[in-house]
Amino acid sequence: MLNKIGEPGSSTKTFFELLGGVEQIRALVEHFYDVMDTDVKAEGVRALHPADLTASREKLFMYLTGWTGGPQLYIERYGHPRLRARHMPFEIGESERDQWMYCMVRAMHLLQIEEPVTVKLAEALWGVADFMRNRPG
Ligand code: HEM
Repeated sequence: MLNKIGEPGSSTKTFFELLGGVEQIRALVEHFYDVMDTDVKAEGVRALHPADLTASREKLFMYLTGWTGGPQLYIERYGHPRLRARHMPFEIGESERDQWMYCMVRAMHLLQIEEPVTVKLAEALWGVADFMRNRPG
């Protein structure tokens, strides 16, 4: 089961460990894109993505595995992520950022990740998502 933030020694744990490894990250990404694909609140962010989300699922899984502190699968395969540059072709403002985060928090809830881990991970991902904004509003 998941470790609790606040337990003695837990401050040294990575998100990768807190989440429970690759299978959990895979499941998180599956839920994330399932929400994006079906929830009307995510229509805007869904419209930016390709019709077939298979590659998106694989890339986000690989990226998040490394970003959370696990094996650097994305970098090993694609090199430096240059994440902001890769998002430049897409118009990302506050609404797209918030919809992306909505899908991620819904996915964490569906996976029943503990609330303290959900809050910390959401805060950290919000920073990345906000950095992706490339237009006002
Ligand atoms: C802020 C809102 C965001 C929007 C609207 C957005 C949208 C997109 C779109 C449209 C693509 C291209 C289609 C695809 O390859 O799936 C993409 C690619 C990607 N996004 Fe995002 N994204 C956002 C935030 C993030 C965040 C916060 C992360 C990581 C924590 C992330 C990680 C990735 C990765 C790894 C790729 C694949 C890049 C590649 O190798 O081509 N995105 N994103």
